[in-house]
Amino acid sequence: MKQDSQTRLIHAPRKAPQLISSIQPPLYRASTIIFNNTDALFNRHWSDEYDYSYGTHGTPTTFTLGDNIAQLEGGLYHLLAPSGLSAINLVNSCFLSQGDEVWVADNIYGPNMEHLRNLEKRYGITVKVYNPIEIETFQPTDNAKLIWLEAAGSVTLEFPDLTGLVKKAQAHNMVTVLDNTWGAGLAFNAFDFGHEHLSVDITVHALTKYPSGGGDILMGSVVTRDKVLHNQLFRAHALQGISVSGDDVAQVQRSLASMQLRYEHQSQSCLTILDWLKQQTELIQVLHPADSDSAGHPYWKEICRQAHSAGLVSVIFDSKYTIQDIRNFCDSLSLFKLGFSWGGPVSLVMLYNLNDMRVLQHSHLKDGLLVRFCIGLEHPKDLIQDIQHALEQMKKLKHE
Ligand SMILES: Cc1ncc(COP(=O)(O)O)c(C=O)c1O
Repeated sequence: MKQDSQTRLIHAPRKAPQLISSIQPPLYRASTIIFNNTDALFNRHWSDEYDYSYGTHGTPTTFTLGDNIAQLEGGLYHLLAPSGLSAINLVNSCFLSQGDEVWVADNIYGPNMEHLRNLEKRYGITVKVYNPIEIETFQPTDNAKLIWLEAAGSVTLEFPDLTGLVKKAQAHNMVTVLDNTWGAGLAFNAFDFGHEHLSVDITVHALTKYPSGGGDILMGSVVTRDKVLHNQLFRAHALQGISVSGDDVAQVQRSLASMQLRYEHQSQSCLTILDWLKQQTELIQVLHPADSDSAGHPYWKEICRQAHSAGLVSVIFDSKYTIQDIRNFCDSLSLFKLGFSWGGPVSLVMLYNLNDMRVLQHSHLKDGLLVRFCIGLEHPKDLIQDIQHALEQMKKLKHE
């Protein structure tokens, strides 16, 4: 039957051959998945990840990346979300119901805490905060349902007693969830700490950081080894319509090949810069889990691979430096760009006021304004020069 050119443009005759190899897997973009016949339609099982039925339930492209992330982290089952925060919210909305108690580390990623506070107000769950390096502050009641762990924690980078916290949570039948973004599946195995084969139940990973590596794509993952937990998450994920773009997934998949090399390089550069920062008199505290003076260092040493400590380091300025001085410092940097996030090629800087960020008292943190550096892929000697120049500028403007 002769067809109109408009129809022929849509139903192109060429089909990809079955057996063709390329370095990167083929990219599937799909909302609609075409069933071969009505048998396939009526016998579909949407909870079976290899029984493709609709774009939101996954495509070979999303499952390829998910499998890679799960394997990297030591998990079995996976889901992708459009951002790390969306992955966090999926876990919270899936497991927390009215009357439940959720425990959160005081140094958890800020928007996670904010999201939980919102759930607390609207849905009657109780949010309790613990000090990640003082396990006695974690006192679950019979209503305790879920604990959020982060290693190392956001901004102040304390490394928690993961083993102790997980043991205690398990004794209360709580679901243990780790924000695994810092370790990225490389620094330690969240599904086997090496001690008594202890493991968290679920990891959440902001793939926006190291897996993407470009500073240009947002994505998150949720991984577990527990089929029952995964089934609950899978259903919530599908019903909430959480989905990622195939093009974005393909970009992250492409970056995975260099992820470990980048992570090791950024870890090493960060340690070089850390050594230099510790000599600077304007700074009264340097925070990095691999530094023996930092809170939680023994826990870091216990479970982490020494060459893998990420590219984040925070510093506290002497309290004689005002917010204006710190702003002058940040504005004088040239290689370090002022921006949120980390794990990309460009080094970043961000300033924080700890008084606005913590619920508990933390005696290990000195009084002063905090700046976090995210080390990119530039040469560390150039980055040190950049910081040195900005410190000098800051002091010149203060007439020191
Ligand atoms: C520790 C941590 N978890 C989760 C997120 C959220 O990731 P996203 O920016 O993809 O929402 C971030 C982002 O900065 C983070 O630092």
